[in-house]
Amino acid sequence: MKIIIIGASGTIGRKVTEALEGKHIIITAGSKTGAFQLDITSPESIEAFFEKVGPFDALISTTGSGHFGPLASTTPADFKKGIESKLLGQINLVLIGQHYINAKGSFTLTSGILSEDPVVNGVNLGAINGGLNSFVIGAAIELQNGVRINAVSPGVVEDSPGFFEYFPGHEPVAMDKVANAYIKSVLGAITGQVIKVF
Ligand SMILES: NC(=O)c1ccc[n+]([C@@H]2O[C@H](COP(=O)([O-])OP(=O)(O)OC[C@H]3O[C@@H](n4cnc5c(N)ncnc54)[C@H](OP(=O)(O)O)[C@@H]3O)[C@@H](O)[C@H]2O)c1
Repeated sequence: MKIIIIGASGTIGRKVTEALEGKHIIITAGSKTGAFQLDITSPESIEAFFEKVGPFDALISTTGSGHFGPLASTTPADFKKGIESKLLGQINLVLIGQHYINAKGSFTLTSGILSEDPVVNGVNLGAINGGLNSFVIGAAIELQNGVRINAVSPGVVEDSPGFFEYFPGHEPVAMDKVANAYIKSVLGAITGQVIKVF
């Protein structure tokens, strides 16, 4: 299988890449790292990326950022920045990628626990994650040629200790468990699912 991993050099992407490489053709990508570079906030950059990479069987996105800060000081510009990166960036990978993906291929996006289990400072990412989960549910019934789509929704992960103080009482999720959620989406048969790894 030819599998694109966008965000392959990141905390989650690294583990997903390790779990799949050797068994599949892996195309790594990031804004600065990976075999190919693209900026998910630019539709032109996404289109150029797919033109270069050509047809593929699966796309995994472990990228996108949001604003993390108090609601009281969050500006419309702060909020929009997150929407344009983690939410629209990943949605645009599907809107554009659907014209390049092979029949029976799959898209796997990354949302996160904040859509349903909020922490202080997490309102932008919570809204983004909820939007991503709903996008996947809606897109699954319209994607053509047997193409599937799922979102992986992790809790704070083991390899991100810098975030632990902002997630009091949350149990960090083991990296193997997180990587397996992506494998379930790509190698399994489910579609329109939010795979929760809390
Ligand atoms: N870490 C956690 O505990 C956790 C928990 C739940 C959900 N999540 C979500 O999981 C996703 C990945 O998190 P992470 O902690 O693994 O992030 P990370 O370590 O910061 O990695 C981000 C990855 O995305 C790439 N990237 C950044 N900006 C990009 C852009 N504009 N275009 C293309 N690629 C870009 C980076 O590569 P370059 O440096 O080359 O750009 C890197 O490979 C995020 O959506 C995050 O919200 C994370």
